[in-house]
Amino acid sequence: MVLEFIYTQPVKIFFGAGKFEGLGQILEELGLRRCVAVCDPFLREKLEALREKLPGICAVYSNIQPNPQLAGAAAVAALIREREADGVIGVGGGSTLDTAKFAAAIAHDGGTAEEYFRGLRPFPAAHIPVVTVPSTAGTGSEVTQVSVMSFGKEKKTINHPAFMPAAAVVDPLLTRSVPPRTTMITGLDALAHALEGYWSRNHQPISDQMAKEAVRLVLEHLENAWRDGSDLQARTGMSLAALLGGLAFALPKTAGSHACSYPLSEDYGLPHGEACAFTLDSFVRLNADERLETLCRQAGLSDAEELARRIAALKALGGLRTRLSELGAVDLDKLAHDCAVHPLMKNNPVPMDEAALRRMFEKLA
Ligand SMILES: [Fe+2]
Repeated sequence: MVLEFIYTQPVKIFFGAGKFEGLGQILEELGLRRCVAVCDPFLREKLEALREKLPGICAVYSNIQPNPQLAGAAAVAALIREREADGVIGVGGGSTLDTAKFAAAIAHDGGTAEEYFRGLRPFPAAHIPVVTVPSTAGTGSEVTQVSVMSFGKEKKTINHPAFMPAAAVVDPLLTRSVPPRTTMITGLDALAHALEGYWSRNHQPISDQMAKEAVRLVLEHLENAWRDGSDLQARTGMSLAALLGGLAFALPKTAGSHACSYPLSEDYGLPHGEACAFTLDSFVRLNADERLETLCRQAGLSDAEELARRIAALKALGGLRTRLSELGAVDLDKLAHDCAVHPLMKNNPVPMDEAALRRMFEKLA
């Protein structure tokens, strides 16, 4: 057997219920004294309440929308310069973490946010450290070098070492207020990260192990977290699943379902996790091979078909859209074409051209 890989994971991870309350100590440990905090609007109050215990925070920015705009990252970068901050903390969902990561990367390099977004100016090699504090269990953004940013209607997923956080504080207590539908959508995003990292053409042994455990955890805990948001055991299981899912795809990257999610989000408005889940059970069936069957058995399932049925059942439970007929007037030719040409489709273990994708979507009519 010829086996060769390079594995790296540079993020220091603080995991556990109550870790957020101890953020001040964590900042001290990381040597950060003047941080700009970026947070979801509904978390601002919670963060302000902690300010007394958090002398390391010098300013709070909370003007964050879903599908974050580049202007937000530029505003945070300006705040970093104005306050002479030595770090950035992102507290919230994927949009917030991605804004914090983008802002930290560009704050001290002199270019405009648009120049970096368009690839007209390279991201600098060094930047001030970012501490990520996820408030949902799904994106895995807390441990990846990915930032999803929009400029007007143009949305880009940028994968660059400049976005790698220095530390992640994962506190399951923060996810208890996430409503059931978002819990299901973000949880299935985590499942997609794990499965796609596992079957990606670039998969590798250490990521594989994290993927398997993440899948097992989602199957054990997602339904419970959806049924009862205050169930700390389920929330802890899902926070760990999302973290491991993030680590599972960080190096191998995602594949078919994420490739399809971009056209489904941009043209039909599906939230990211719902867009990934839309084709996830289809790709389980398409990509089923001995490796996937092994993962399924280790997750306590009889086979890949059972995994596909479990995903379909979770989608139904969460009230997610599962048929094209629920998306309005769908241009099947454009959808199949846009999915086929997405760069992530190249990572899918089974080659999927436009015709194959069309056949897949016709079954979801
Ligand atoms: Fe995702």
